[in-house]
Amino acid sequence: VCKVAVLISGSGSNLQALLDASAQAGAPFSVCSVISNKPEAYGLTRAAEAGVTSSIIDHREFPNREDFDQALIAEIDSCQPDLVVLAGFMRILTPEFVRHYSGRLLNIHPSLLPKYQGLHTHQRALDAGDSEHGATVHFVTEELDGGPPIVQAVVPIKKGDTADSLAKRVQVQEHVIYPMAVTWFAEKRLHMLDDRTQLDGELLPRNGTR
Ligand code: GAR
Repeated sequence: VCKVAVLISGSGSNLQALLDASAQAGAPFSVCSVISNKPEAYGLTRAAEAGVTSSIIDHREFPNREDFDQALIAEIDSCQPDLVVLAGFMRILTPEFVRHYSGRLLNIHPSLLPKYQGLHTHQRALDAGDSEHGATVHFVTEELDGGPPIVQAVVPIKKGDTADSLAKRVQVQEHVIYPMAVTWFAEKRLHMLDDRTQLDGELLPRNGTR
């Protein structure tokens, strides 16, 4: 099976979705390591409950991004994963880190990329008066939130929505599409080729896919 390392910073609900999917009979992947940059992240408890090894690499203990990322790489590579998955990991990674895992590094972002890269995506979608919003799983490249998309989930924006109510609706879908994308990768159906996503032998569009 495909070995997956998961990086988190917080609640870890996407980690939970991956742990649940990996526990299904015949699952093509298993989570070999969970790494958090925050000691208090609830996702660490989820890892412990699933019997998965976890570790904390606190970015505040490093003088700069390069040293932090080198420590991350050392910890990740100690389990020799086939895939590295960012699941609510809220640190920007150095080009060296991204290159080290090129083609085997995934992220989930809470917007319909290329819309709303960066933070506060739910509030920005509300402020713009959008009628729909969602989440995107993408390969990570050196361009922040700009790597080739793999799968998107769309949700309606409803009257009276707040950033919180919208985030909840989006997260339900995140928990569907992230295990799906990781399963495709584990089944060797998903590749990054020349900064494009290839799924089942077909190149996907660069600017969003549904
Ligand atoms: C998720 O909604 C994810 O899309 C978002 O953080 C949340 C983490 O939740 N990621 C980003 O904003 C990345 N820039 P979780 O810890 O419960 O999985």
